[in-house]
This record gives sequence, C-alpha cells and structure tokens, in this order.
Amino acid sequence: MILILNGSPNKGSMTLALTENFVKHLHKEFEIFHCYDLHIQSCNDCKFCDHKLGCNKVDDMEEIYQALRKTDTLILSSPIYFGAFSNELLKVINRFQRYFAERFVHHKKLDFHINRLIVVTSAGSKSDNMFDGARLTFDILANLFQVKEKHFITASDTDHIPAIDNKEALKQIEELKKKMVP
Ligand SMILES: Cc1cc2nc3c(=O)[nH]c(=O)nc-3n(C[C@H](O)[C@H](O)[C@H](O)COP(=O)(O)O)c2cc1C
Repeated sequence: MILILNGSPNKGSMTLALTENFVKHLHKEFEIFHCYDLHIQSCNDCKFCDHKLGCNKVDDMEEIYQALRKTDTLILSSPIYFGAFSNELLKVINRFQRYFAERFVHHKKLDFHINRLIVVTSAGSKSDNMFDGARLTFDILANLFQVKEKHFITASDTDHIPAIDNKEALKQIEELKKKMVP
C-alpha cells in the first residue's frame, strides 16, 4: 500500500495536487493522512522510548503507526515552511523517534518494512538551497527505515508557477512512474 502524509494545511494544496496526479497513475491502493486534521502531540523527549519499546502518548499517531505496517511506499507531501517540512508533518516525523530508539537504543529490527520513500515538496521561491533542510530530514528517514529506493521531487517558484505545471517536477514524476508501473 502507498501511504501519503500530507503536510499542507491548504484544501487546495499545490503540493498534494502534484502528489495525487502522480499516485493516481500507479493503480495501487493508497491512503492519505492530512496531518493538519489529526490530533498529534509533540514529542517532548520524555525518554519513555529510551527505556521501553513504543511511545506512551495516546493520540491519532496510532493510526499512522498501524498504517506503516501495511506500507510499501511512503510519500511525504509537504510545502516548505522556513526551509523545512511544515510543522504538523514534522510533528508526525518527530514521533518516529520511537523507531529510532527501537533500532539504535534497543537494537531491535522494526516490525514493518518500507521499500520506497518519496518526498514531494514545493516552495514559493526559486532559491536553490530552499529544499536542503527537507532533504536532510528525508535522508535521516531513509536511513531509519532502511528503504531500498528514495526519490525527492521538488517544485520551486510556486509564487509564480503552480506546482502542477512545474516542468522539472513533472519530468521527475514521469521518470518515477516508468520505474513503478511495469
Ligand atoms: C508559514 C509559511 C512559511 C513559508 N516558508 C517558505 C520558505 O521558507 N521558503 C519558500 O520558498 N516558501 C515558503 N513558503 C511558501 C510555500 O512553501 C509555498 O507557497 C508552497 O508551494 C505552498 O504549498 P501548498 O499549496 O501545498 O500548501 C512558506 C509559506 C508559509 C505559509
């Protein structure tokens, strides 16, 4: 299954439009979680997961933890906010700290396997380094989940060009579609 974590608060998210345009051609089952509609507590470094397996917070993250068990392809779809993924998506990502502790403190294998990590992201400006922060987060997650494949799709300059019309992003998506649709 494809799991999409939508990090845009916009009902007409340009980034999600690009992601959906890509996913609908794959003819695979997918599920979208809209991070801004979920009730998710921030990781507050309470150290629970350093001592025990799992997380002691009870909230909508449970649905994402369950969905990850069925996920083959994880897509993070998010605008860039101040050089990073949006805050509500980052909140979800920070709650993956339990997996970090499972692997690197408790030396356990994760009980699910994600084969492919894809980021689809957009930024208002044209600046070359605007995606650097999100790319670092992407690399950390790819390492945490030990993915086989990773792809980072960017649409810049959305202040002037809607993400869905961004030629570079559409080219990246076409190449990925060819790989994913046999
Ligand atoms: C709080 C906030 C912070 C933003 N920070 C940046 C930024 O650092 N760099 C940038 O290029 N665009 C920035 N933007 C613009 C968004 O990244 C851009 O409009 C994006 O394409 C919106 O995507 P969406 O329609 O999927 O929500 C920011 C927008 C908001 C609301």
